[in-house]
Amino acid sequence: MPTMIPQLPKRKTRSVRKMARVADTTVDEIGIADQGDPADLLPLGEQPTTAMTWHEPAQLATLEARDITAWFGDHLVLDQVSLTMRAGEVTALIGPSGCGKSTFLRILNRMHQLVPSASLAGEVLLDGVDIYNPSMRLTQARRDIGMVFQKPNPFPAMSIYDNVVAGLKLTGVRLSRGARDNVVEECLTKAGLWKEVRTRLRQPGGALSGGQQQRLCIARSLAVRPRVLLMDEPCSALDPTSTRVIEETMSDLVREVTIVIVTHNMQQAQRVSNQCAFFLAAQGEPGHIVEHGPTDAMFGAPQDPRTADYVHGRFG
Ligand SMILES: Nc1ncnc2c1ncn2[C@@H]1O[C@H](COP(=O)(O)OP(=O)(O)OP(=O)(O)O)[C@@H](O)[C@H]1O
Ligand SMILES: [Mg+2]
Repeated sequence: MPTMIPQLPKRKTRSVRKMARVADTTVDEIGIADQGDPADLLPLGEQPTTAMTWHEPAQLATLEARDITAWFGDHLVLDQVSLTMRAGEVTALIGPSGCGKSTFLRILNRMHQLVPSASLAGEVLLDGVDIYNPSMRLTQARRDIGMVFQKPNPFPAMSIYDNVVAGLKLTGVRLSRGARDNVVEECLTKAGLWKEVRTRLRQPGGALSGGQQQRLCIARSLAVRPRVLLMDEPCSALDPTSTRVIEETMSDLVREVTIVIVTHNMQQAQRVSNQCAFFLAAQGEPGHIVEHGPTDAMFGAPQDPRTADYVHGRFG
């Protein structure tokens, strides 16, 4: 049964916002929407809740993008992109720089709308429910669909422990000390970091290595029980060993959270993904998907010569 938990006092959520500024990020960029000062972040007309539910892991979810078209001002950057990201699978988005992969990813959890000039058309369905439907709360969409970025962005001065539970505070979830301890251990374990940090949970997140910081960010995303995890080049700033650990973590995580990863590393796409989508934007044209399908087929027997050229490193 879901537990109804009262919202935290504003004072506490504000302190997380302050930490976010120090970390050179925003509360949105930790992959969840802040309830601390809802007027800033909730779309017009959306009222803040006074309570949130925190629950056991939900059923695996499928995310479906239908005819996504996106603009920055009058610059059309994506044209009618449709893709189903199936439950319990890793979908890799590949393609040359500037073809709209990050824009597409940000549309999948309503972060695109944070850019003042940005607009979009189309639908994003989470198990059939449009996350852009006015009845779907922004906070709920961001909790259900978490995001991990290229550059690890933990709160550097905040302890490892508090980093993991930061998302719970921001979404107004209040747990007993014991329950919080359990969440911290569970999420750090799933992120493949528990053994390395279990004896120093009170040390600052900023004192970890780059690879450890990225796994801390994954743990932080997991704490709010997302159904989908979006990862935008999560290993591109990491050494090969850290990359391998994160790839192993992904293959464990995908049993309970659907994963969408953007990567420029073709070996990584082959290693981690079940499905693959190849994005391309011709000069002066918006990005679109040239081809998508099972990763083995995309690399072994692509249908389109442009896919073959790209996956074999002949351009991009
Ligand atoms: N905030 C923004 N304002 C205006 N234009 C933007 C903004 N962000 C991206 N764009 C433009 O949208 C297009 C797609 O960019 P996007 O970052 O989605 O590409 P990408 O495929 O992720 O590239 P990369 O592989 O280099 O990360 C590009 O033409 C880019 O210049
Ligand atoms: Mg990008």
